[in-house]
Amino acid sequence: MLTRLKIDGFKNLDRIDVRLGPFTCVAGPNGVGKSNLFDAISFLAGLAEKPLMEAASIVRGGDSRRGDVWGLFRRAGDRVAERMSFAAEFLIPEEGEDELGQTAKASMTFLRYELELRYRQDSTIRTLGALEIVSEKMVHINRSKAKSRLGFPHKKDWRDSVVKGRRTSPYISTEPEVEGERVISLHADSVAGLGGGRPRRVPAASLPRTMLSSVNNAAEHRTLVLARQEMAGSRVGGADAAGLQRRAGRTTGSKRPSRRRKVMDREDLRQPSLLTR
Ligand SMILES: Nc1ncnc2c1ncn2[C@@H]1O[C@H](COP(=O)(O)OP(=O)(O)O)[C@@H](O)[C@H]1O
Ligand SMILES: [Mg+2]
Repeated sequence: MLTRLKIDGFKNLDRIDVRLGPFTCVAGPNGVGKSNLFDAISFLAGLAEKPLMEAASIVRGGDSRRGDVWGLFRRAGDRVAERMSFAAEFLIPEEGEDELGQTAKASMTFLRYELELRYRQDSTIRTLGALEIVSEKMVHINRSKAKSRLGFPHKKDWRDSVVKGRRTSPYISTEPEVEGERVISLHADSVAGLGGGRPRRVPAASLPRTMLSSVNNAAEHRTLVLARQEMAGSRVGGADAAGLQRRAGRTTGSKRPSRRRKVMDREDLRQPSLLTR
């Protein structure tokens, strides 16, 4: 469950810091950025599963077929921000499975993910796409800090039942730039530190996708496989009038009556009003 989202430089969102709860309602006048907030959540969900450019292509304004992701960077007058950054705090389940059905038990269930992207200026390596990772981090949030980090009223018993585990070191870290190069490290997180080994270190600029989106093995990254699933599963639901009309239009003429469509599809990610998992 997403509990906090900070956004800088994405569409019209700058220095945005929102606390989210089990049920969050977003209201405001037209054009303030409600849908852009949902686009940011969809973008982060996409980035947890897909290469950078593919994740951008599913967001309004990030159509990468034309190689054009400028629409996602914040415009103010004739200036376009070259960077965008996100910080997401979220709770993950204590246990789950990786893609091969192997059990993953989180070493910590309250996490903070940070990602900074920039527009790639160097056109000689444009084959990698116009988006470049500047930094990526995943750290735990201490149990002692959990109360103040959760922005909605809750009981201590509830908090103790969802904020579990311990960890002292980061899961993903970015080292300071050395001679123009930044390196992102993926740290081992196996049961009792067994089979850990050295972190996997990759130059940030050469990454076609986030480190988070690359983890799939519960034996090596028991917490990150669950974190990745949680991020990828962040869903925005609900409906506005235009969305309802679109959906009605889309289902007209289909063989199955729309009533039978119980699961929300990708289009529905764009419908503002409530945030669910
Ligand atoms: N890259 C961008 N930089 C700055 N503003 C943008 C960018 N992309 C879209 N916008 C602005 O976002 C606003 C629309 O936000 P939106 O989230 O769709 O509003 P609503 O709250 O009605 O859902 C428009 O004013 C549009 O100009
Ligand atoms: Mg809208």
